Amino acid sequence: MALKVSQASEIPAFLAMQVMKRAKEMQAAGGDLVHLEVGQPSTPPPATVSNALQASLKHVASHGYSVGLGLPELRQRIGQHYQDWYQLPLDWQRIAVTPGSSLGFAIAFLSAFDKGDRIAIATPGYPAYFNLMLALGIKPQLLPARAAQNWMPDLESLVATDNIPDGLLLASPANPTGVVMCDDELEAVCRWCDKHGVRLIMDEIYHGLTFGKRTKSALAYTDNAIIINSFSKYFCMTGWRLGWMVLPEDLAPTAEMLAQNMYISAATINQLGAIAAFDCYDELDAHIPRYEENRDLLYRCLPAEFLGNHAPSDGAFYLYADVSALTNDSIAFADRILTDTGVAMTPGVDFDAVDGPSHMRLSYAGSTQDVKKAIQRLNDWLAGQGR
Ligand SMILES: Cc1ncc(COP(=O)(O)O)c(C=O)c1O
Repeated sequence: MALKVSQASEIPAFLAMQVMKRAKEMQAAGGDLVHLEVGQPSTPPPATVSNALQASLKHVASHGYSVGLGLPELRQRIGQHYQDWYQLPLDWQRIAVTPGSSLGFAIAFLSAFDKGDRIAIATPGYPAYFNLMLALGIKPQLLPARAAQNWMPDLESLVATDNIPDGLLLASPANPTGVVMCDDELEAVCRWCDKHGVRLIMDEIYHGLTFGKRTKSALAYTDNAIIINSFSKYFCMTGWRLGWMVLPEDLAPTAEMLAQNMYISAATINQLGAIAAFDCYDELDAHIPRYEENRDLLYRCLPAEFLGNHAPSDGAFYLYADVSALTNDSIAFADRILTDTGVAMTPGVDFDAVDGPSHMRLSYAGSTQDVKKAIQRLNDWLAGQGR
């Protein structure tokens, strides 16, 4: 007799992670791989951070749990970061440290929404938003954001069609497009949400990674939004699995109960190391010219067939390439390129079921040497196809 399996078993795969799994298997078997599939800096965190972690190993208390919302010392330091970067005073008690920002999304969804509620998300967009909502019984409401609309979802059309969602989740800089909302757009989104009673979740995990001026936090415009952030990207600490949230006051108690029950606390030792990350802005900022150089190399040297109608990529470290000249099946295309060239990339369907089959996402978070290698292999491969 078949035993019961939850509906969450229907959750779609996170294709970037699937490609990474296959690429790592090929690498373990001796393959020469170039990883452009995941958004993961190739540089380690600053030595100051690793030293702080090592120093904490000596203290018995570091090996225990922290309180559910995270070490007060770290939360206070994150609070100071909002003052230093954004000139925003912030009560550190509203800050929750999470195991990666990924768990922050789960806390956000479960604390602010019920099964059947609708959260609007821009597409193309980060796949785990959509997939996690499905697993939790929340309905994703897709808002197309296309080149023709300056990559911004049209919120007024939701009012016109009486289709206002319970929540809105946006990212800036965005994954996979690298689109950065200007301050006026961000302010308009915050005002729109407050006017229409929509709970905003703002994914700010690519803050610090912009090639123009630094972006503002949604906190500058509203105290009702849930702000999500992470040590993974700007701070180069993907494997440490640490993120944070800034919670509106009405959600903080629920978020704390959820954190206690879901994971007790984020890893204490990692939290102790992370405190030092906020002393390293200069070292971390020094990576940004490399990302920018990688992006410009891709623009200059990728085969023209990869640069059809690409998104702006003004922040984060992704190029969302329109490859409609080459394929309308991005999964098969990614697979073939991986097999033939060892270059791992993420199929666009991860981010968008409609236009994704003709798009690919290339991460340029790695070394410039790797980006050059990938460009060479892709050009050679296309030449070998008679293009
Ligand atoms: C837009 C966005 N949000 C959230 C995450 C989750 O990151 P983490 O759990 O490492 O903080 C990612 C990871 O790539 C992302 O691109």
